[in-house]
Parts: sequence; structure tokens; C-alpha cells
Amino acid sequence: MQAGILTVSDRASRGEYEDKAGPLIREILTSRTTWPVVRQGVVADEVDEIAAALRAWCAEGVHLILTTGGTGFAPRDVTPEATKAVIERETPGIAEALRAESLKITRHAMLSRGVAGIRGRTLIINLPGNPKAVKESLDILLPVLPHALDLLTQSPHSESQHRMV
Ligand code: MTE
Repeated sequence: MQAGILTVSDRASRGEYEDKAGPLIREILTSRTTWPVVRQGVVADEVDEIAAALRAWCAEGVHLILTTGGTGFAPRDVTPEATKAVIERETPGIAEALRAESLKITRHAMLSRGVAGIRGRTLIINLPGNPKAVKESLDILLPVLPHALDLLTQSPHSESQHRMV
């Protein structure tokens, strides 16, 4: 299972700010899963840039893409719009769970507009930008992601076998 991490931040993309969330996601995935991080990048808060990176990584066969940042209410927060332009099937339960569980930690969780969905055999999930929110979100997601990715990447053959049982 191959993972990609996309940090969405104007300031980080210009080198004015050190990206802390992207490396934190890598650290958590590396220590708590067996999935190699095969793609990692930083893009500006631009729909076209974000969508291009997502489309390219999907075409390259990355199974899981976690974005961080750009999910809030600021005028340049457009990660959900870029993600919606790229996904073919929404997975609303993931975004719902992230907000519902995060609301138990902070009321500010309602300010994330993050979405999640599937393009081909790739699952894309928007996480908020700050490292604390990233860690909390991954604590919620990681127990469920192995099963989600198994379902998404299984061959049509095993799927039909599964249905016959
Ligand atoms: N979710 C969790 N689990 N923990 C947090 O601290 N912060 C919220 C929210 N989601 C937060 C969270 C805040 S303050 C904002 S503004 C939104 O995520 C959007 O963040 P973003 O614009 O960095 O993506």
C-alpha cells in the first residue's frame, strides 16, 4: 500500500514557513503502518496546483493520499474544492467521522470543510493544517484505513468470490 502526502500552503510552498504537518504525517505513517510514503510534496493554495498533484499521484498508482491544510474558511482555503474536482466517488463517512470525533476535542473542528473520496483505486483524504489536528485526525483514521484500502484495492475476482460467500 503506497502513500502520498500533500501539504497545501502558500507560505510553505514559497519557503517562508517550514512545513511541519507533512513531515509529521510521514513520521506517523512510518511508525504506525507498513505503507511506504512514495510521494511527498508542497503546493500553493491553488485549485489547479492541488488537483494536478492529486491526479498525477493517482495515475502513478498511489493508494492513499493525505492532504494537509487549506480546509478552513479563509478565502484561499480551496483544498476541498480541488479534491472534489478530482474524486469520482465521495466517501462522506470519513469526513463525518473526522469532524464528529474531533468535535469532542475542540469546537473548532466544525471549521474544517475537509472532504474525502475515491479516484480509481486511490483514496484521498483532506486533513486540517495544524500538526495537533493532523495527529488527532490520524488517531481517528488509522484503525479503519487498512480495511478501507483492502476493499479499494482488491481485485474484481476476489470481490465476486466475496459476494458468493
Ligand atoms: N481538528 C482537530 N482534530 N483538531 C484541531 O485542532 N482545528 C480546526 C479544524 N479541525 C482542529 C481540527 C481549525 S482551528 C480549523 S480553522 C480547521 O480545522 C481548518 O484548518 P485548515 O484551514 O488548516 O485546514
